[in-house]
This record gives sequence, structure tokens and C-alpha cells, in this order.
Amino acid sequence: MEPEYYFPSPSPCLTRWWSKETVAVVTGGNKGIGFALVKRLAELGVSVVLTARDKPRGEAAVQTLREQGLGDYLHFLLLDVSDPLSVSTFSSSFGAKFGATLDILVNNAGVSYNELDHNSVEHAESVIKTNFYGPKLLIQALLPFFRCSSSSITRVLNVSSRLGSLNKVKNAEIRSVLSREELMEEEIEEVVGMFLRDVRSGTWKSRGWPSYWTEYAVSKLALNAYSKVLAKRYSHHPSALSVNCFCPGFTQTAMTKGKGTHTADDAAAFAATLALLPPHLMPTGKFFSLSRSTLLNPASRL
Ligand SMILES: NC(=O)c1ccc[n+]([C@@H]2O[C@H](COP(=O)([O-])OP(=O)(O)OC[C@H]3O[C@@H](n4cnc5c(N)ncnc54)[C@H](OP(=O)(O)O)[C@@H]3O)[C@@H](O)[C@H]2O)c1
Repeated sequence: MEPEYYFPSPSPCLTRWWSKETVAVVTGGNKGIGFALVKRLAELGVSVVLTARDKPRGEAAVQTLREQGLGDYLHFLLLDVSDPLSVSTFSSSFGAKFGATLDILVNNAGVSYNELDHNSVEHAESVIKTNFYGPKLLIQALLPFFRCSSSSITRVLNVSSRLGSLNKVKNAEIRSVLSREELMEEEIEEVVGMFLRDVRSGTWKSRGWPSYWTEYAVSKLALNAYSKVLAKRYSHHPSALSVNCFCPGFTQTAMTKGKGTHTADDAAAFAATLALLPPHLMPTGKFFSLSRSTLLNPASRL
């Protein structure tokens, strides 16, 4: 998936299809873009399951939103996306509470251990586990609970990054595998495995992996590739499931130590617009990127 600068017209707020019965799950909802997105979706009248890996931090976030009058739209469940047991406990709890009603899944939780001007691969395993295997495991675990109705289309929005674009990879062999039309899940895992082996053997610098925020970039590269595979798998049932990626751009959050060109609320406003596109405008297999021009164009926001 390569970046695409696209926002729908006319404004989707004219075509509201959702109601309080519409259910969204947002991972990493206790702070940053995830928190802002939970808030935006709840303000727009969607029922949101705020998830967090830490109970006190998650409950504090829910409490903050309750104090803003959004309590009727909020639920909280614990979820550490890097822990398969937590993913499976979460999906059972979700199923028991909501059944097959999931309309929107936003895989937002993510980590980076790099300072802005620093590159290391010290945390490669953990970053790949959280940013790539986390969303993948969660999608698989929640599949039985996707509503998949033609009047709404279940949507998966993977919060990714332009740093994971294929053009950041200098290794032609890896680029050619990941850009294949018939790419398979196993091949993505092989690429990820190759990266982790290169890290362990200390050869990663000479192997043509992305040169900036390398471990993070590879995790998002794999997430983009997986999103493409999944979107293709469901392309024969376009009314059932759509899978897209969204890069929020350089956003002021803990991940960037508060630096960035715009706020988490700005990023969340666009993520909400994408997540709530009307069914007839909902694409699949796209990579959306928050650009300066979309930020300057309030008409494209809900
Ligand atoms: N900020 C940017 O400039 C930027 C640019 C491109 C893409 N992104 C992407 O945007 C998404 C949100 O990032 P952000 O900027 O909002 O960062 P952030 O403020 O650091 O928030 C990250 C969120 O993910 C949660 N998280 C981390 N590991 C988790 C795990 N194993 N299980 C569940 N939750 C976990 C964190 O929880 P804790 O509070 O417990 O740590 C936190 O809620 C990420 O996917 C990131 O890669 C950000």
C-alpha cells in the first residue's frame, strides 16, 4: 500500500448511517490519537469500546470522557495487543457483551522506542509484536464478531505510518516480494522473520531495511502488507468487510515527545471521518495519509 491523499466529498456528515447501536473498538485508547478518536466517535454518537493495556490508565481515560458527558457511549475493556492471552480474553469478553455487532475496529495501539533523531533496533521484537502481530491477532480473534451487514460494512482501520512505505526499503528482493499482487500472509511473516534474524546477527544496516526508525518502519511495512492481503481476501464480499490504513502524520503525542505539525484531535477528526465513511463511499485496500491540504480543508472533516 502506498500513500494516497484522498478525502471524500461531499462531507460524510450529510450521510449519517450510524447510530448508538453502531459499535467501535479502539485499541490504545487511553491517550494520544486513540484517546482523541474514542472521544470523537462518542461525540458523533457511536458506542465505543475504549481498550487499554493498563486498567488504571484505561479507567482514568474513561472517567475523563464521562466527565465530558460521553458516558452513555463508552465501555471499557482491558487489552494488551502484544499478549495473545489478553487478545483472546478480550475477544471472549467482547463476544459475551456485544455478540456479532462489531462495525468498526481501529488498530491504533503502537509503540516506538526511538527518539526523533535517533535510530536503534534494540526493541525490534517488541515493536514487531505490538505493531504488526498485535493488530493481526486481534483481527483474527474478532472476525466472528464482525457485523458484516451490507447496510454498514464492518471496517478495519489500521493506524500505520508513511515510514512503513515500500519506497523506504532499499532491498529490491524484499520490495519485490511485498509488492506482489499475489502476496500471502506467510510471505509477510518470512520478511519479518528475516528482519529479526538480520537484527540478531547485526547485519541489518547493510541489508537495505528502512534507514529511519528502522524497527518501527518494518513493523508498519508488515502491517500495510497484511492490510493489503486481508483487503484482497474480502474483495469478493465488498459489502462485508473493508480494510484500510491511515497515517496520521507527524502528530503531537507521547510517541513524538509532544512534537508534531498538528494535535491528536486533528488526527482523530480525520480518522473518524474515514472510519465513518458511508457504505457506498467506503473503499478497501487503501492507505490514507493526513496531508497538509486536508488539514487546511475543514470541509473534509465530520
Ligand atoms: N504521533 C505520530 O506522529 C504518529 C505518526 C504516524 C503513526 N502514528 C501511529 O499512531 C498510533 C497512536 O500513536 P500515538 O502517537 O497516539 O502514540 P502514544 O500517545 O504513545 O499512544 C500509544 C497508545 O498505544 C498504547 N499501547 C502501546 N502498546 C500497547 C499494547 N501492547 N497493547 C495495548 N495498547 C498499547 C499506549 O498505551 P500506554 O499508555 O499503556 O503506553 C497508548 O495508549 C500508533 O499506531 C502510532 O504508530 C503516530
